[in-house]
Amino acid sequence: MKIILGITGGIAAYKAPELIRLFVKTGIEVEVVMTDAATRFVTPLTLQALSGKPVHLSQWEGMMHIDLSRQADAILVAPATADFIAKVANGHADDLLSSLCLARDCPLYLAPAMNRQMWENAATRRNIERIRDDGIHLIGPEEGIQACGETGFGRMTEPDDIASLMMSSLSAKTMLGKRFLITAGPTQEPIDPVRVITNLSSGKMGYEIAAAALQRGAEVVLVSGPTCLSSPYGAKLVSVGTAQQMLEAVMENIEGIDVFVGVAAVSDYHVVNRSGEKLKKQERLLLELEPNPDILKTVSSLENPPFCVGFAAETEKLHENARAKLENKKVQMIVGNLARDALGRDDNEVAIFTKEGVLKLPRASKRDIACQILEEIGKRIS
Ligand SMILES: Cc1cc2nc3c(=O)[nH]c(=O)nc-3n(C[C@H](O)[C@H](O)[C@H](O)COP(=O)(O)O)c2cc1C
Repeated sequence: MKIILGITGGIAAYKAPELIRLFVKTGIEVEVVMTDAATRFVTPLTLQALSGKPVHLSQWEGMMHIDLSRQADAILVAPATADFIAKVANGHADDLLSSLCLARDCPLYLAPAMNRQMWENAATRRNIERIRDDGIHLIGPEEGIQACGETGFGRMTEPDDIASLMMSSLSAKTMLGKRFLITAGPTQEPIDPVRVITNLSSGKMGYEIAAAALQRGAEVVLVSGPTCLSSPYGAKLVSVGTAQQMLEAVMENIEGIDVFVGVAAVSDYHVVNRSGEKLKKQERLLLELEPNPDILKTVSSLENPPFCVGFAAETEKLHENARAKLENKKVQMIVGNLARDALGRDDNEVAIFTKEGVLKLPRASKRDIACQILEEIGKRIS
């Protein structure tokens, strides 16, 4: 996939290097085009280093305004200034980026970023309306504190969200109309009002599966234990703490779901003798634990269960344990990994167990693994 990233002269240009990094990380080729004003905010050298390609600044280098867009899947302008939006709305072509936008034969996405008064100005409102009518895609802006210290609409959408939105827009919509319910992250079982029993799950694998499903056009409900991650753009996030809360959130959202993916590291036990007050330090503390409900099995035992995928994080006998889980839980797929190689990391090595056999995947980023898991699910539900 190849994107032309246009950068115009706004403060938010400082976020462009991060945007390039995110695209490049997912294997997207980025060709950077800057306006003259943009070079005042961020140097072409930085962007060249990150994109690995020369940055285009001038329209007086042959037929660049035609050639570039012919090889691209999309043009994204982020940040898009009020001035640049006015140019696009009126068909101006007095620099390389505006000429490219006018001469393009691929979709154009603009991520506006400006002071809230500029955004609310009648001229900008008119231009935005025209742009929408012309079939140009707008990403944001968001509401919040601005670089100038004012608060309102005009903040550029965060690079993470722009990147996932672009990837969703450009991916083949193989899961269109499918509804996914995904659990992710750890659960927390209270011991007292300030202490919990939890585990080392970061939530990354589940969030990547949610993002991959969204990119393919699926609707996603993400039931998540506490994590430091931001929810993938477009997912319905339901935040929970305990395993019991996770089960309740799953059951509240299960109707009409086509695919259930239980990635969460659900605590096997909860504390029966939990204290209502903060426990004082004592010689010996005995906790009484009782098993938690089995969420995956509850879903797979429904009268009309969705396609169920479970995860098995094992420290030994991975194949044996994963196979047993496939049988016992009556699910269609188990993704097995060695826990010590997976928890909290950005990469993973997994094997996909189904009744047809085992598919071993080489070590890869959790994003790539999520895509491969989605491919395998896709083959079985289509
Ligand atoms: C410090 C500074 C910050 C600016 N920030 C923005 C901004 O966030 N959004 C915007 O629309 N214009 C902003 N401007 C104004 C643009 O830089 C100006 O309109 C410029 O002509 C835009 O050129 P371009 O659209 O060709 O990149 C800023 C100007 C300065 C001096």
